[in-house]
Amino acid sequence: MKVLVLHSDIPPDAPPEDQDTLVAAKAVAQALISRGHQAWLAPFFPTRLRSFLNREKADVVFNLVEGIDGKGCLAHLAPRLLEQIGVPYTGTGPDALIVTSDKPRSKRLLRDIGLPTPDWSEPPSWDDLTAGRWIVKCADEDASLGLDDDAVVEADTVQVRAQACAARYGGRWFAERYVEGREFNITVLERGGAPHVLPMAEMLFESWPAARPRIVGYDAKWDDASIHSRSTVRRFGLEHREPQLARELRFLCEESWDLFQCRGAARVDFRVATDGQPVILEINPNPGIAPDAGIVAAALEAGLSYADLIDGLVREAIR
Ligand SMILES: Nc1ncnc2c1ncn2[C@@H]1O[C@H](COP(=O)(O)OP(=O)(O)OP(=O)(O)O)[C@@H](O)[C@H]1O
Ligand SMILES: [Mg+2]
Repeated sequence: MKVLVLHSDIPPDAPPEDQDTLVAAKAVAQALISRGHQAWLAPFFPTRLRSFLNREKADVVFNLVEGIDGKGCLAHLAPRLLEQIGVPYTGTGPDALIVTSDKPRSKRLLRDIGLPTPDWSEPPSWDDLTAGRWIVKCADEDASLGLDDDAVVEADTVQVRAQACAARYGGRWFAERYVEGREFNITVLERGGAPHVLPMAEMLFESWPAARPRIVGYDAKWDDASIHSRSTVRRFGLEHREPQLARELRFLCEESWDLFQCRGAARVDFRVATDGQPVILEINPNPGIAPDAGIVAAALEAGLSYADLIDGLVREAIR
């Protein structure tokens, strides 16, 4: 098949989380070629997409558009246009991307159907900002933007932190109840139209100073040399060690997949509080798919090679 790997337009001075898209795009194209497809890369320019596709005649688009101008909340424009143009594409559709790129909005939907997610508080009213620890995070960007050791604060500091982050990074900032406990990042893959939960990854915080909040912050994700990155270690095997917890997490993954009408692949991020109760932090449809990404690690753990994973996503897109 002729597969166009469509990616966000990434300037050379873009931050590492954006450069990661290009790493992924090259690896995806190579994997497709290794499976006998024709594959080539192109950046996404909304106004030129239709004429470009008319010329290039792709059978299917591998969608790696994570935003426009570094703004993740605009990622839905690519699948919206691809749908209008009528070309099949990999991954989740525009509506699900709009909802999931707005964290408070997706949390409201989770709550509405009784799925567990931590309490939260939003500007301008900051209702329900009761005593205790909160994490201040961006409502409409991902990649742990702005999440460092100072992101976890007491209630009386939330608004100051939110204002400082908005001034520095732009966007809307809100507060979520900080959940002390364990962290899981769980990949769901579409197979034959149905969600299939891959081996569950726990992120361990190794040799972590007691005073440092146990979060997978920006440095842990994007600065490989940092102590935060070296001390966060992925571990599999929950299904054998703790089958009951694994069953609960699988159920929550499948419910979230259905709620947000995901397609292709998604990663659901969880905390499991010290009382053993899992809560959903967020759903990432179209999660990062560079060779070092969490979903690739989960696929490998399930016995799927990188090329199997990529080829499988194309097959689901044209099914
Ligand atoms: N309520 C919370 N309690 C404890 N830790 C949290 C909470 N919210 C976020 N974190 C920590 O911050 C990390 C990033 O948060 P979250 O997944 O909500 O944001 P993101 O920036 O969209 O991440 P991603 O890169 O996965 O898209 C989590 O993996 C977790 O370690
Ligand atoms: Mg996350």
